[in-house]
Amino acid sequence: MAQFDEAGLTAEVIRSFQSTPNPRLKTLVTELVKSLHDYVQRTNLTFEEWNYAIEFLTRTGQTCTPVRQEFILLSDVLGVSMLVDAVNHREREGATETTVLGPFYVGEHKPLPHGSDISLGDPGEPMFVTARVTDLAGKPLKNVRVDVWHADDDGFYDSQKESYATQGPSMRARFTPDDDGRFYFRTILPCSYPIPMDGPVGDLIRASDRHPMRPAHVHFLVEAPGYDPLITHVFIDGDKYLRSDVVFGVKDELIAKVERRTEPKLPDGTPVDRPWHLMSYEFHLKPGEGVAPKPMAAE
Ligand code: BEZ
Ligand code: FE
Repeated sequence: MAQFDEAGLTAEVIRSFQSTPNPRLKTLVTELVKSLHDYVQRTNLTFEEWNYAIEFLTRTGQTCTPVRQEFILLSDVLGVSMLVDAVNHREREGATETTVLGPFYVGEHKPLPHGSDISLGDPGEPMFVTARVTDLAGKPLKNVRVDVWHADDDGFYDSQKESYATQGPSMRARFTPDDDGRFYFRTILPCSYPIPMDGPVGDLIRASDRHPMRPAHVHFLVEAPGYDPLITHVFIDGDKYLRSDVVFGVKDELIAKVERRTEPKLPDGTPVDRPWHLMSYEFHLKPGEGVAPKPMAAE
């Protein structure tokens, strides 16, 4: 018989995928069908709601560009990104905690020498970042690549600004740690910022009466051959949004005390005529062969 009741329909759709040759694909599609059908039944989804969902996802896709990933943002605010992160890092073995990649990893991480000013003179309070990359035993790693990126003093990433097309990246760079695993750079103190609110994800946040803020942080993507890639942030202690990050990305271990200093020289000898901030952090990588999950537009 080619006519199904609710339960029979779910079973028949699952059966239609039973010859899927790739076993992992078969599992993923089967479980997706079960969860979606369950959702429709438990909510008694109306046609109007179903249409809205289709239109919402269509707009989400249409909002994506090579430098804007609205689907990642949607995954982030639904907590899916952090859940994927959690199930894939159940065994940390002392490695540094991970968090979301976020939608602003857009490639264009230019290799720069240690001590470079990645803010390119944009306004803000000076910050000196010094960091080290080691294995779990504290031994410096070889052939490490560290991509860093963060928002400006107004809470915007370079790729969100019109000037990106003509001026290229700022507050975004790649560093190669030295033989002792160290790297350092100059920049400005980032501030807390709202996620992009001018697309469908913004509509969802407003409709839910949630705040759109992320606490101030610097992103790091650390890669070394033979080690699991580390996608993380270092958050700035004291930020008022640390306990209510809109994307659920904060972990206690990733909160750093950023010291306010008044010496007239930065640790690398660069003169400074204002108070400045010092961020220090040590990253520990664990052995593995993982590949960093980056959006397609990013490479
Ligand atoms: C970010 O930190 O860049 C970010 C992460 C998730 C959503 C929006 C922004
Ligand atoms: Fe960020």
